[in-house]
Amino acid sequence: PGVTSDSGSGAEPQGVLGPLTSAAIFLVLTVDPGGEERVRDLLADLPGLRRSVGFGVPGGQLSSVVGIGSQAWDRLFDYPRPAQLHPFRELTGPRHHAPATPGDLLFHLRATRLDLCFLLASHIMDRLRGAVTLEDEVQGFKFQDVRDLLGFVDGTENPEGAAAKAAALIGDEDPDHTGGSYVIVQKYLHDLDAWNTLPVEAQEKIIGRRKASNVELDEDASHVALNTITGPDGEERQILRDNMPFGSPGRGEFGTYFIGYAGTPEVTEQMLDTMFCGNGSAPYDRILDFSTAVTGTLFYVPSADFLDDLPPLPFGGQAAVIPSAPGEPEPGVLAPAPSSGGSLGIGNL
Ligand code: HEM
Repeated sequence: PGVTSDSGSGAEPQGVLGPLTSAAIFLVLTVDPGGEERVRDLLADLPGLRRSVGFGVPGGQLSSVVGIGSQAWDRLFDYPRPAQLHPFRELTGPRHHAPATPGDLLFHLRATRLDLCFLLASHIMDRLRGAVTLEDEVQGFKFQDVRDLLGFVDGTENPEGAAAKAAALIGDEDPDHTGGSYVIVQKYLHDLDAWNTLPVEAQEKIIGRRKASNVELDEDASHVALNTITGPDGEERQILRDNMPFGSPGRGEFGTYFIGYAGTPEVTEQMLDTMFCGNGSAPYDRILDFSTAVTGTLFYVPSADFLDDLPPLPFGGQAAVIPSAPGEPEPGVLAPAPSSGGSLGIGNL
């Protein structure tokens, strides 16, 4: 593969660093048994597909990110695992639960126009249909002046420039994966009827910012305070977010699709732990009394260089699940399939 230790800090990231746009599509898929080759072909072609759709629309700012789930990694690549790739850790706090849900692939497609995301998502799914199962699809939009559907400006404290890079990308600590990132997504559904019965001052205490002016409040137990976390040296630990409102007024569905990129998933996990299980100032984040997490997945986002020159398939190019046989110590392990010389094994195909 082209991605080696010495590609080092030069590795080009995918579209992790933005730009933040007014439209996005989030696709979460699982890879069907036998679908690995088709998925790999699509991964290699994704940058080209993005250019095909986006190049003719310069103001469209179409960007794409694909993430790989923990269980899919060993099925897709013969290459060292990203050091911190693991399934999303579900959390149960005193009141609220963050479920872990299935996902082998995440596509995060952003543009200033939804039609560009839609077209790119259509090309991706044309290529993958029959090789994957759709777990979730969300079309998100920016609402009013970058507000979430709770009515608050969302994203203000995102790191920018060099700080965004430092927060979102893997550095030299994992030399095989420099320029990669970890991303956690969660789909939240809001109880807007209950939220809207709260006086604005009560909502502001929960979020930690003024609703109209977006000015930060000095409020220990707010969402903002609980998510302001520091490392051992007292330095702030940040993630790069691009939450998107979504919903269906007809069905009474109103939500926030949370997405957080980080050079280590530990940072986002620490935030989630504080939100769901509390800290010294609060038993949990009261945003959760009005927002229910219905999905939760963690992915590794390889660098663009990795997609340019994919490492080989595991097991010399042929992977199969061997059904468990009586007396076998480890049932269902992955093992090389008998070589078929590239044929489908059907007649002379
Ligand atoms: C800040 C909304 C979930 C992490 C904020 C702010 C809003 C908001 C309005 C204040 C403005 C700003 O963005 O700086 C929401 C909504 C959520 C949600 C509606 C879902 C229902 C999450 C989750 C995490 C998170 C799951 C982390 C795992 C943060 C962080 C900040 C923040 C790090 C900035 C704190 C600071 O001021 O340094 N969020 N958020 N949020 N949120 Fe969330």
